Amino acid sequence: MTETALTVHQTARPHGFPTAGHFAFVESPLPAPAPGTALVENLYWSVDPYHREMMDGDFALNAPLEGRTIGRVVASRDPALTEGEIVFHRQGWRTHAVVTPGEVRRLPRFEGVPLSAHLGILGGTGLTAYVGLTRIAELREGQDLFVSAAAGGVGTATGRLARLMGSGRLVGSAGSAAKAAYLTEHVGYDAAFDHRSGPAAGLLAEAAPEGIDVYVDNVGGEQLDAAISALRERGRIVRVGTVAQYNATGTPYALRNLPDIVEKSLRMEGFLVSDYPHLQEELYEFVVPHLQSGRVGPDETVVEGFDRIVDAFLGMLRGENRGKMIVRAPGERRTDPGSRTDPRTRLRHASR
Ligand SMILES: NC(=O)c1ccc[n+]([C@@H]2O[C@H](COP(=O)([O-])OP(=O)(O)OC[C@H]3O[C@@H](n4cnc5c(N)ncnc54)[C@H](OP(=O)(O)O)[C@@H]3O)[C@@H](O)[C@H]2O)c1
Repeated sequence: MTETALTVHQTARPHGFPTAGHFAFVESPLPAPAPGTALVENLYWSVDPYHREMMDGDFALNAPLEGRTIGRVVASRDPALTEGEIVFHRQGWRTHAVVTPGEVRRLPRFEGVPLSAHLGILGGTGLTAYVGLTRIAELREGQDLFVSAAAGGVGTATGRLARLMGSGRLVGSAGSAAKAAYLTEHVGYDAAFDHRSGPAAGLLAEAAPEGIDVYVDNVGGEQLDAAISALRERGRIVRVGTVAQYNATGTPYALRNLPDIVEKSLRMEGFLVSDYPHLQEELYEFVVPHLQSGRVGPDETVVEGFDRIVDAFLGMLRGENRGKMIVRAPGERRTDPGSRTDPRTRLRHASR
């Protein structure tokens, strides 16, 4: 085992798009667990859009950051944590963490399913998609759907789950023609467009000429405006996130068609996945058999090496990921018995 630990700190508040200069890698001696705690060596890290929101104030400067991570207990001074066991916890952005039993969650292992899926389709990302479709949109068979940031973690999971639920026409938007092609060729979308290639209203009208019943909104702004126009009567807008605005410095996009919400009896509802932990088992039951059969890919971009975690985070904000952006400790795949390589879904570092 290595003798030093590395921790990422945020060192300055960004104005607009963050850079590597807003972070520092800090080296320290390996922490020793006190009685009632254990030392975990982290193996997989999640980098997420909400971290960008936290950079504006919630992350303390020059201190360890929080993030979802999966690691292995390497030394324990509590009988509830056994050396060698794999745990999920929230002390991410660092190679090692000292945890109490109450801070960790044991992950169920599913034959043939890689551990990293617990940060993607089986984790908060997949649960967000599942809650959005089943509890907020109340999606019914045959209903037509539009999803923005469709090639990202939540977007690919939403497409995969909607297909399994028998959705009608499935339309997605992504930030390049290659990502749009990935959606139709691999994820199961019927049509997809590059949101950078023209005004969203025209692109959506072309991809969904007969309108939509549900819009799963990961970005806000112009695409939300376009979706409001495309929605049929009694349509639903699921507000998942506003990633188009996280790095924006100008005036936020002003919606022009809010009267449509009244005239078409639309429902717009946001939610936080943290309010739905009780649906975790339901998600496993629904999706694990399809992961095991190979019908559903985990859709992840895996960046290897903790030293690249900041690059992975900034790359995710730029749209370099297909599926969930995950950072993996070097060599970890060899020790994960559930891991299997699928060139379509386990890209080392996706090109746009
Ligand atoms: N409500 C909740 O509890 C909850 C939970 C999880 C996530 N979320 C939200 O869900 C959304 C997706 O999260 P995720 O983790 O799955 O991230 P993600 O979609 O995997 O990654 C972010 C994506 O955002 C897109 N993007 C960046 N700037 C954009 C812009 N200006 N306009 C349009 N798209 C842009 C990029 O894709 P392109 O290259 O395709 O543009 C990028 O890949 C985020 O808004 C996040 O905050 C909410």
